[in-house]
Amino acid sequence: MSASQEFFRDRKAQAVFKHEILARYPVVFAAKAGLGRPVVFLDGYAGRGEYEDGTEGSPVLLSKHAERVDSFRTVTGIYVERNKADYLKLKEVMAKRGRPQDYVRGGDFRDLLPEILTIARGAALFAFLDPFGTALDRDQLVAQLLNGRGHAPTEVLLHVSISTVARMGGLLRKRRQEGKPLSPADQKTVDHANRFLGGTWWQKHFEPVTDATDERRATEAALAVAAEYQAGIRRDAHCMSLSMPIRHKPNQLPKYLLVLFTRHQDGLWWFADAVGKAGREWEGAWRGAELRQAKQRAEKNDEDALFSAEQLLPEPDSFDIDEYVKQNRASWERIIGQNIRRVLDLEGSFVLAQRLDEVYARVFGAASYVHVRAAVKSLHEQQVVQNTGKGNYFFREPIIPIRPTQATA
Ligand SMILES: C[S@@+](CC[C@H](N)C(=O)[O-])C[C@H]1O[C@@H](n2cnc3c(N)ncnc32)[C@H](O)[C@@H]1O
Repeated sequence: MSASQEFFRDRKAQAVFKHEILARYPVVFAAKAGLGRPVVFLDGYAGRGEYEDGTEGSPVLLSKHAERVDSFRTVTGIYVERNKADYLKLKEVMAKRGRPQDYVRGGDFRDLLPEILTIARGAALFAFLDPFGTALDRDQLVAQLLNGRGHAPTEVLLHVSISTVARMGGLLRKRRQEGKPLSPADQKTVDHANRFLGGTWWQKHFEPVTDATDERRATEAALAVAAEYQAGIRRDAHCMSLSMPIRHKPNQLPKYLLVLFTRHQDGLWWFADAVGKAGREWEGAWRGAELRQAKQRAEKNDEDALFSAEQLLPEPDSFDIDEYVKQNRASWERIIGQNIRRVLDLEGSFVLAQRLDEVYARVFGAASYVHVRAAVKSLHEQQVVQNTGKGNYFFREPIIPIRPTQATA
């Protein structure tokens, strides 16, 4: 079975995370960045459009959510797929489930990018880049997509595959230890990674990884590569970024990062909010997958049993998001309050939207902006900060401590 056939057979919890972000963030982008100009949603690695069971893939989701803003924004969707069979399927799916104004293109995204940028000229562009493995060459990402569009708002949501980069590190270790050149296929994979990451600088991160079975160290090296990569893009494209590690389930090593590159602090703020809401859906998805597996195991073992363990297990789809939020809200708000106090103590006054890593520390991918607002309100009631947490733009205003902090005393 090819990677693509395997991928589109059934949707894994990791895919739920990205799709739930796509169900929320692009709409906010269209509403904010599309004021007074058209909007383009671009899916550069679109896939087949839907899974075998009919679950919506990213192009269908983007198209569906474009419709939500149709009454006040003009949104065009552009969907690109390189694999011939997947492209034909995508065309068929989008003919049924897409919108007439959308473009569906077959071919390599790298080659089609100049044509796409002509279509998107002057529009606010939200680009979702979600390949298997490594994505667009760094040169193209920076020069054409992020820097090549003048003042038109441009945001890129990039899938950075940590497992692919970690695997690549394994190839390099093998080459080092065996003293033999890589096979042509492996060399091609490494060359692709060099183009994606912009040179061979990343390879030094894997020098300490010497053991083929050391998945944790390889993943840590890959995460360090991803952090340096993001810092480089931020510097060269004069933008900001925020990244969410996506795992199969909690406490596991991340499989990939979803990184938003934007020049607007509001983009980061609303992205963090969408990530929190998507995280709750992911919570339900991985728990449901575990229960389904447990039921299948129990069903097998139950064949000769008088009472069925399978029947005693909760239903896989019984996860209640509202209940989950209700149970966790107070602790999320307390943690965010502590996070805000920590930044105030260390550095004094700061703007929430500019310090999202710290503000959402330990609750990123679970809490959302309402919990940050509640934390600020609570700090105000405790006479820690002057800010009341009220108003639409409380996240843009500096948080001002009532008493001098360690940083200001
Ligand atoms: C992970 S799948 C996309 C899944 C899709 N974004 C979703 O969430 O439903 C990646 C797709 O990118 C396609 N692809 C890989 N390299 C490409 C390229 N250079 N240009 C366009 N498509 C490409 C693959 O054939 C595959 O269908």
